[in-house]
Amino acid sequence: MKKKENKFYQLTIAERLARLKADGSLSDDDIQALSGSPGLTPEQADHMIENVVGTFALPLGIAQHFLVNGREVLVPMVVEEPSVVAAASFMARLARSGGGFTASATDPEMTGQIQIIDIDDIDRAVRDLEKDKDELLEKAAQADPLLVKLGGGPRDIILRKIEESPIGAFLVVHLVIDVQDAMGANAVNTALERLTPLVESISGGRVLLRILTNLADRRLARSQCAIPVETLEFGEYSGEMVRDRIIEAWAFAEADPYRAATHNKGIMNGVDAVVLATGNDWRAVEAGAHAYAARTGRYTSLSTWSLGEKGELVGELEMPMAVGIVGGATRVHPTASAALKLMGVQSAAELAEIIVSVGLAQNLGALRALATEGIQRGHMSLHARQVAVAAGAPKEWINPIVEQMVKEGNIHVDRALEIMDEWRTR
Ligand code: MEV
Repeated sequence: MKKKENKFYQLTIAERLARLKADGSLSDDDIQALSGSPGLTPEQADHMIENVVGTFALPLGIAQHFLVNGREVLVPMVVEEPSVVAAASFMARLARSGGGFTASATDPEMTGQIQIIDIDDIDRAVRDLEKDKDELLEKAAQADPLLVKLGGGPRDIILRKIEESPIGAFLVVHLVIDVQDAMGANAVNTALERLTPLVESISGGRVLLRILTNLADRRLARSQCAIPVETLEFGEYSGEMVRDRIIEAWAFAEADPYRAATHNKGIMNGVDAVVLATGNDWRAVEAGAHAYAARTGRYTSLSTWSLGEKGELVGELEMPMAVGIVGGATRVHPTASAALKLMGVQSAAELAEIIVSVGLAQNLGALRALATEGIQRGHMSLHARQVAVAAGAPKEWINPIVEQMVKEGNIHVDRALEIMDEWRTR
């Protein structure tokens, strides 16, 4: 009889790494980099930022069961919070029963801003800049000929008049650039600086700021999943009950910014973990997400949950996703580079599609738990484990201490210390 294979979470760390190796896409160096030994060395870190004294490690877990656009993906997640990786994997398994995640991304267009002040006649400046748009685009293209050769480069110039501000009216030029597989901040900021003299001479004004906007609303990623209602059933909850409660819970976030902030934070638990694992700028993605959530003037949920035609639960998430697979830390950081290899992504768009799918899965996990048994139950034992470790419990005592604290519903370092004292004097 064939022996049943252990699940990924049931393996030791060494066995998990061996399984990733057996999947075939990673070299020994990649496996080592994922294991964190050595991972990013202080010498490598010294080339990344200033005043380096060392590196700072966080847990890296691999979410399972993700099927995105019909492709199996192992998803690396860097996160310090318990339950995030388990919830993403579990929800990906539920989504799989409805065909997994269907995701897409727009062209990788990033926008840069040029602030022009002290203009005598703003309307005339708008007309002149509009007239010289082609020349401006050509000038911007000169900043990065390689990008243009690769099929990217400047796409559009948009003029925005700011009518009211503490310094009165002024003009903003938006430069839209297709940045291909990069995050794009460097490409955009370089092109903006290149444009400055021309913009000043055409507008007759004074250019002040030239910087990319993190509200990357032309670089969106979307993911959708449809969960068959029977898959949602568990414990005392019928599938219909879980589905309807998830929709009711989502409605709270849709209507109330206080709830939306937490709801979106749950989405970002998944999003940031993958953004971080791939060496991307999670602050940029965070800024874009929350600004996009408030784009109508009212901060709301980034996702929607609704009833499908066949009674299934339909989830959708759309958000800006400024991530790259070239440049920045993505290639310099050995673990990030191995993480990208593990996912087998061929473009920044594909990475963005996976990231929003993880965000959607994470959101489903949080809503499902919150709308049924609450999240504390699932959190308890991992939390108790952290508490036991923090109390300095020896390795062989961790599991029994966890069990005892969960049973008592008293999960505190003080209690863990007390239990250890009791056992020592037994
Ligand atoms: C905790 O990190 C995330 C949640 O608060 C998200 C949510 O409330 O939807 C559970």
